[in-house]
Parts: sequence; structure tokens; C-alpha cells
Amino acid sequence: MALLGVNIDHVATLRQARRAAEPDPVQAAVLAELGGADAITIHLREDRRHIQDRDVRVLRETVRLRLNLEMAVSDEITRIALQTMPDQVTLVPERREEVTTEGGLDVITHAQRVQQCADQLSGAGILVSLFIDPDVEQVRKACELKAAAVELHTGAYAEARTRQQREAELDRLREAGHYAVSQGLILNLGHGLTYDNVSPIARLHKAHELNIGHSIISRAVLVGLERAVREMKQLVAGTSPY
Ligand code: PXP
Repeated sequence: MALLGVNIDHVATLRQARRAAEPDPVQAAVLAELGGADAITIHLREDRRHIQDRDVRVLRETVRLRLNLEMAVSDEITRIALQTMPDQVTLVPERREEVTTEGGLDVITHAQRVQQCADQLSGAGILVSLFIDPDVEQVRKACELKAAAVELHTGAYAEARTRQQREAELDRLREAGHYAVSQGLILNLGHGLTYDNVSPIARLHKAHELNIGHSIISRAVLVGLERAVREMKQLVAGTSPY
């Protein structure tokens, strides 16, 4: 059975829209744990558009689940990772030039930089995963770079519009995933997974962990809205919901 890593970046996105204190990603992490999450994933972006440095520190101190930090191949963020010591780091593309057409980190073109960054992090005892396209050559390079894990980009699968396209993308994921596992890599997958499209991915042979954010947070907003309005309505009416 595959594990579930819950990406809580969107909670911070909402908070940053007001530069307010809520919603708090730490509270979101606790609720995700109660819901059965196996890991908490956050992305500290160079532009700090959602998760802030303090979030990384506080989550590191409070989250009991595995903490997976997504980050660009950047000296600044590597320093922060080495200071805060998440359990796992997933190297992702952030700058345009690091993005292949499908959107994974191109570890062939950027092998040297990826190697330097990955070596520092794994040397400190952090498990390093590389977010790459479902391409055997990218997986081969990830293996050469001595990554412990790969996260195969499921975006093209998620965006496939016809059954044929979806099957073709699933085949690519299957082939790259099979090769990764045969080389001893941990196989993670993610991006664009939803309640509708997750099942075939979860059933992929030896899929270790799926990282899902947008769909879970979107659903949380909708399934939680009725209760949130009811509670406010009671307060406005002068009674306490609590
Ligand atoms: N995996 C990686 C490497 C990501 O960068 C993201 C998005 O932050 C996800 C998984 C989650 O994608 P989504 O929000 O579409 O579920």
C-alpha cells in the first residue's frame, strides 16, 4: 500500500494572501496527521510565496511525521535545509531553465549542480529524492547521482484528456517506475493527483509514497465551509457554537 505525503503549501498561500497569522500550516499538519497522513510536505520557495523560513523551523520542531522539504537546487535553501534537518528533501525545478517541457527537474542537464547539492544533504543524513519526469534516462541519471529516491512527475498523466493519452502516460510512469525500483531507488509520485485520478497511480508496483496537495486542500475548503459558516452564524446570532 502506498503512503500519503500531504503538501500543505496552499494553507500558507492563503495565510500569505493577508499576511495574517491564520490559517497556520502547523495546525494543518496536525490535522493531516489525524487524517492519516504519513508525511508532511512543504516547499520553501526562493521567492517565499507561501511557506516561510519560520514555518520550516516550527514544523520541524512540532511535526511528528516525516517532514519532506521540497526545494530548488539553491545554496541559500540548502543552508536552511542543513540547519533545520528535515527527514527528506525533494529537489524540484524552480527556475524556468531547470524545467523540461514536462516539468520535472532535468537531472541530466544539471547533473553537476544536482550532485553537489544532493551530496551535501545526504552527507548530513537527509534522504534525497529527485522530482523528475517519468523518463528512464532521467531515472538512470538519478541513480548515478546516488539519490535515495525519485518522485516521478504525474502532471502529464493528470492532464491527459483522452483515455489513450492517460494510458500512454501511465505506461511511461510504469516503465520509469519499474526501472527505478529495479535500481534500488525508492519510488514516489506526485503532482496533479486528485480524488478522481489517484487510484491507478496508487496501484503502481512498489509505489512508496504519493505527494498530494492541491486536491486535498481544495476539498478541505469545500467540506469544511458549511461548518465554518454555521459556527460564525451562531456567533453573529449571539450564541456560542463552542
Ligand atoms: N510533488 C512535488 C514535487 C510538487 O512540487 C508538488 C506541488 O508542490 C506536488 C507533489 C503536489 O502537487 P499537487 O499540489 O498538484 O497535488
